[in-house]
Amino acid sequence: RDRQPIIAIDGPAGAGKSTVARQVATKLNLVYLDSGAMYRAVTWLVLQKGIAIDDECAIAELANQCQIELTPTQDLKFPVRVWINGTDVTQPIRTIEVTSQVSAIAAQSAVRQALVKQQQRWGKKGGLVAEGRDIGTHVFPDAEVKIFLTASVSERARRRQQDFEKLGQPEVSLEQLERDIAERDWKDSTRKISPLQKAADAIEVQTDGLDVSQVTAQIVNYYQQRLSEW
Ligand code: CDP
Ligand code: CDP
Repeated sequence: RDRQPIIAIDGPAGAGKSTVARQVATKLNLVYLDSGAMYRAVTWLVLQKGIAIDDECAIAELANQCQIELTPTQDLKFPVRVWINGTDVTQPIRTIEVTSQVSAIAAQSAVRQALVKQQQRWGKKGGLVAEGRDIGTHVFPDAEVKIFLTASVSERARRRQQDFEKLGQPEVSLEQLERDIAERDWKDSTRKISPLQKAADAIEVQTDGLDVSQVTAQIVNYYQQRLSEW
């Protein structure tokens, strides 16, 4: 084998991908890759530059030229610092403005091409837990372990509300969060290019009623079981 193993975790918003992927990476001593942060960073740059969301040409140019860096930290609230073109956008990429526009930007083919290429470059040697929407289907189709993480919309909205609370952000109603999540799920699953889909060889983990450590343990067990089969 010419590279270390890769764990791909995909699923809808609020399923627990980031949290679980980070813990799995720590437990197995692998690198954690948050692909969603990259789409969010490009979206932040588009908004900051005042480029129209449907100006695909300008956005393509920006996506092809931008420099994105992801660096792990010890900060529990922001475990990964995100930089684009030298600006630290760790916090602004989590705002409602960015969240509401990111799916439209992530549907554009030039943006996906640019970011997927970067992800594949980072993942060349393997040894990582990558998390997003198209990791098992497109970015690393030969990943050794593929997980499709899900939970009901109401459970995911509840988790998001608690996250906002913890971050001291203004309260958003559960109804609003459920609407936002359902809309983003719909956009991500129905887009033409690399829609959110369970890979044929992924195992689905339904996380309603499970806590982070239970989900993490399931994935670590599955990984170790697969590892022993190779
Ligand atoms: O954390 P949350 O689930 O809210 O979103 P995220 O993982 O930060 O991803 C934000 C958005 O980026 C998603 O809603 C998708 O539109 C897009 N995305 C994508 O298209 N492909 C990926 N591999 C990761 C994210
Ligand atoms: O990345 P994604 O949007 O899929 O989810 P996240 O950003 O990791 O947010 C999930 C939130 O739900 C975090 O606050 C987790 O602590 C919490 N949670 C979880 O991830 N998994 C569970 N089984 C239960 C709760």
